[in-house]
Amino acid sequence: MKLQLLSDLHLETEDFEPQPAAGAELLVLAGDIDASWQGFERFAGWPVPVLFVAGNHEFDGRELAEAWPALRERAASLGWTVLERESLVLTDRAGQRVRFVGTVRWSDFDLFGDARRDAAMRAAAYFMRLMRATRQGAAFDAEGVREEALACRHWLAATLQEPAQGRWDKTVVVTHFAPSFRSADPRFGAQPGTASFCNADDDLLVHADLWLHGHLHCRHDYRVARDGRPPTRVVCQARGLADKGEADGYEPGKLIEI
Ligand SMILES: [Fe+2]
Ligand SMILES: [Fe+2]
Repeated sequence: MKLQLLSDLHLETEDFEPQPAAGAELLVLAGDIDASWQGFERFAGWPVPVLFVAGNHEFDGRELAEAWPALRERAASLGWTVLERESLVLTDRAGQRVRFVGTVRWSDFDLFGDARRDAAMRAAAYFMRLMRATRQGAAFDAEGVREEALACRHWLAATLQEPAQGRWDKTVVVTHFAPSFRSADPRFGAQPGTASFCNADDDLLVHADLWLHGHLHCRHDYRVARDGRPPTRVVCQARGLADKGEADGYEPGKLIEI
């Protein structure tokens, strides 16, 4: 299966016109597409199926409990399939069955271990205030993010343990947040704020043939070795913010093959 992956387009402020990649059988949107949701319209009539995993900015200024059903309705009106703690098996042109497993994942702040979690959560407080989101009426703060993140992690770990039993040939995980410190933005490295971007999901990588993510405003394409099987490929195709130079060299038409 040939995939196109886009994330972190930030159409709420960025000027970017998405184009279908030649040869792609599927478009995966890995979050932070548009905080206002207006720019989703630019994908209307997209020629191939669209899978959407939300990013943190899709919830800016919103109440989570209300935003989720509204986001699903908006996505359905465009013909997108939303994956949030959900999976879906699609058959490609060659007859290969690919399981897509999707969740925002959020950040649990466990990236640097228990001893450094408090510092990571303090660093996150700034980002959470900027987001101005609420969860069950209370400010969606670092503690709330961690609770959401742990629920996502629990679901993801359980889902990835399920045996295929002939139901799929390959597994692709799609998260907005990154699964490993290997995906850290080299501009920021191992500082506490990085735990707001990457999770220590390295133990789960072994269950995926391909892991797609966004959130880091840089690109990644690396492989992590597995015993007796081809390595797991991890790809981030975030565009980021043009005025920070993050979009320099961006290749939105890159094809990823699974
Ligand atoms: Fe982003
Ligand atoms: Fe993000």
